[in-house]
Amino acid sequence: MIVKGFCSFIFLMITMALCDASSSRFGILDQNLSVKKDSRLLNRTPVKSIQSKDGDIIDCVRISHQPAFDHPLLKDHKIQTRPSFHPEGLFSESKSSNNKDIKNSIPQLWHLNGRCPDKTIPIKRTKQEDILRASSIQSFGKKESITNPSSIHTELTTTATEDHQESAAAFVRGDEYYGAKAIINVWEPQVQVPGEFSSSEIWIAAGSFDSNLNSILAGWHVLPRLYGDNNTRLFIYWTRDNFQSTGCYNLLCSGFVQTSNEVALGATISPLSTFFGTQFVITILIWKDQKQDVWWLQYGNDTLVGYWPASLFTHLATNASLIEWGGQVFNLESENGLHTTTQMGSGHFPEEGFGGASFLRNLQVVDDSLKLRAPKNIDAFATKPNCYNITLGKSDNWGDFVFYGGPGRNPNCV
Ligand SMILES: *[C@@H]1O[C@H](CO)[C@@H](O)[C@H](O)[C@H]1NC(C)=O
Ligand SMILES: *[C@@H]1O[C@H](CO)[C@@H](O)[C@H](O)[C@H]1NC(C)=O
Ligand SMILES: *[C@@H]1O[C@H](CO)[C@@H](O)[C@H](O)[C@H]1NC(C)=O
Ligand SMILES: *[C@@H]1O[C@H](CO)[C@@H](O)[C@H](O)[C@H]1NC(C)=O
Ligand SMILES: *[C@@H]1O[C@H](CO)[C@@H](O)[C@H](O)[C@H]1NC(C)=O
Repeated sequence: MIVKGFCSFIFLMITMALCDASSSRFGILDQNLSVKKDSRLLNRTPVKSIQSKDGDIIDCVRISHQPAFDHPLLKDHKIQTRPSFHPEGLFSESKSSNNKDIKNSIPQLWHLNGRCPDKTIPIKRTKQEDILRASSIQSFGKKESITNPSSIHTELTTTATEDHQESAAAFVRGDEYYGAKAIINVWEPQVQVPGEFSSSEIWIAAGSFDSNLNSILAGWHVLPRLYGDNNTRLFIYWTRDNFQSTGCYNLLCSGFVQTSNEVALGATISPLSTFFGTQFVITILIWKDQKQDVWWLQYGNDTLVGYWPASLFTHLATNASLIEWGGQVFNLESENGLHTTTQMGSGHFPEEGFGGASFLRNLQVVDDSLKLRAPKNIDAFATKPNCYNITLGKSDNWGDFVFYGGPGRNPNCV
């Protein structure tokens, strides 16, 4: 009982600290429990807890007690259980996964040790050591970003990139987009120091590249500072103010409404692709349900994870104006200004092709007909092509695809 109480206490602390970047600056130790006496917070006692072999504890929390409902805009929100429509795609799932060298991955490692009952959602427990690690980060939420494709030229000619983010991504912009989909190859890139990360994702964005940028991200990442290990994990992120004070990873703040009792956000993805061995992929689909006024997230062929209520956003309230698919690396440039050895994707350049380089394929957008379509006028950029690069391709089975990634530091990237 004491242990259980202590854990939910810890959960409260991290929720308040990580979520509310604006008020705390991660001064976790000066937080105290009298801050909020929200009954839903106090009720977030798990119905069941599952110990995963990677060290994670997954708490099955009643769906109505999830973090989302702490959000002031969602106090009286009625949970949607199913979308009002599902966008049809160009590729049947079977056609796009009939290659015997490719396997679809939904399995989350913790599934080996149990499942969450109906009417609960799995939440990865935040432990005391997570809080201590997180407390040394100045502002967690600001770590993510999205690169403005238009800025690439200027970035390459200026010596200092202000934010140390490097991207290699395909993108479309200029139309009204109501969603995006991709099949994403999963790897475990090496991350040089805990404060760096490597991710592979879909970005959906609207608004201008200033403090008004709205964005939704979903994909996989390796982020030791958040999780305490180098595992590849499923993640989501949202922001309404260009990653300044709104939004966060996974369910660490209120906003995303989870409906699935199968998928834990932030959980380890397993198995992973091996160099010229079996390639494992995850499928991500995000789309706007105009009737319900939410953005749904689907994982795998048919698992609905949950949704972001459109009311969380300003520009993304109706549609997106930019979609990106690709990889991102955060470079702390800790060693005498040398480039990080943190890898993107498989850690190999696009030229190595299938088995060697990482890929995103069957890139599609939901257009104003509310169907999945091939992206029009797709283009690609890499902020430092000598470190991480990207190539676009197109074929019948793979549709629009990219090979992307790289090793980071090498003789041409220092
Ligand atoms: C905890 O909250 C109480 C009541 O608001 C306040 O008086 C106290 O200073 C706080 N403690 C810390 C360590 O912030
Ligand atoms: C997705 O569908 C394909 C074809 O129906 C199937 O082979 C594959 O196992 C499915 N993947 C998952 C994760 O269910
Ligand atoms: C994660 O990777 C780094 C660098 O490759 C290594 O130094 C560290 O020991 C690893 N951490 C864990 C928990 O395995
Ligand atoms: C699409 O979003 C933009 C704002 O980002 C808005 O101005 C426009 O009216 C929206 N289109 C529709 C059809 O609602
Ligand atoms: C990056 O990829 C592009 C597209 O394939 C290619 O033209 C370019 O030469 C590559 N750059 C480097 C530095 O390898």
